[in-house]
Amino acid sequence: NNYVAIMAGGIGSRFWPESRQKFPKQFLDLLGTGKSLLQWTYNRFKDICPKENIYVITHESYVTLCQEHLPELDPANIIGEPFRKNTAPSAAYISHKIHALNPKANLIISPADHLIMDERIFERHVYDALDFVGHHNALLTLGIKPTRPDTGYGYIQYQMDNDSHEKVFKVKTFTEKPNLDLARTFLKSGDFLWNSGIFAWNVQTVLEAFAQHLPELNDVFVQARDVLNTPKEAMAMERLYSQCTNISIDYGILEKAENVYVMPASFGWSDLGTWESAYEHSEKDYLGNAVYGKNVMVIDASHCMVKAPAEKLVVLQGLDQFIVIDTPEILLVCERNREQQIKEYVAEVKRNK
Ligand code: GDD
Ligand code: MG
Repeated sequence: NNYVAIMAGGIGSRFWPESRQKFPKQFLDLLGTGKSLLQWTYNRFKDICPKENIYVITHESYVTLCQEHLPELDPANIIGEPFRKNTAPSAAYISHKIHALNPKANLIISPADHLIMDERIFERHVYDALDFVGHHNALLTLGIKPTRPDTGYGYIQYQMDNDSHEKVFKVKTFTEKPNLDLARTFLKSGDFLWNSGIFAWNVQTVLEAFAQHLPELNDVFVQARDVLNTPKEAMAMERLYSQCTNISIDYGILEKAENVYVMPASFGWSDLGTWESAYEHSEKDYLGNAVYGKNVMVIDASHCMVKAPAEKLVVLQGLDQFIVIDTPEILLVCERNREQQIKEYVAEVKRNK
């Protein structure tokens, strides 16, 4: 009953000029690992549910690009939207589509362009989230401990519980992209989390939320119900999609619904897709090292960021301010403050291929 939908239709304006409309952030190898953020995202999910249950939803102009990045995915699972209408219509579309296939489905919605450092913890959170929404009438989001009063995020105030065993908390207020004053107040008060933009829900629950909070948008897909998952679907969407309300899922549903819950997450997260920003969000040892990997030995090293596969023994000695990233294809060792140069070497590698 578990499904995943990756949202890959944004244009990533924050990364301009690197990430332009033609080639947004999710398709870039910003990390110098030989993989785009979309590929990293897909790989995180492919062990969690069968690939038949993984969908990518994107603007129709990126469909070919998505197919090239994810050749192993059935092209039928890559859905093109004929209009840019922000994330609420995408979420409504995919939720209706999956509901038509399996009315009991539990669905994870994930951005395509985030960096997550610890895949094992991530996987655990995702399973817990799916389990929770399978048993509760809940719209669940994963929450991240905020580090600065950034106005680009949703802020979640949650019901602090003394029972520290709880993994999930009821959300009191959800404020999408507050102004700076408000963001500062939230940060100071301590009982706020950032919305990661990774959501989990049962399709029945979310369709009820759409019907209640965005009824006009919901009606677009109710009209299309009979053609979803048939050869007539794309044509119907060409005709109907322009009627969708242009709004994000955060403003459209999360700010309004009563049954929003949050699961605080701690897997090393960054939505900027740079190692430095992930370092900033990481827990560090007393020498300032952020270490991801079961078998990493750090000797006399400081302010380093290390990521290695669980089975790989990695030893760091005498380094200060380095990024060390080991992946099956590429070993990356670079100075933390020179990360911008990754761009240049990625371009160089591509030229020589
Ligand atoms: N299919 C599709 N269609 N995908 C879209 C569209 C669209 O029209 N618009 C955006 N997306 C995709 C983006 O590619 C990204 O993967 C994801 O949806 C989120 O959209 P963003 O545009 O990046 O949202 P944001 O970063 O401003 O805010 C969201 O993410 C923050 C965390 O990074 C919100 O959920 C915030 O509350 C959250 O804090
Ligand atoms: Mg974003």
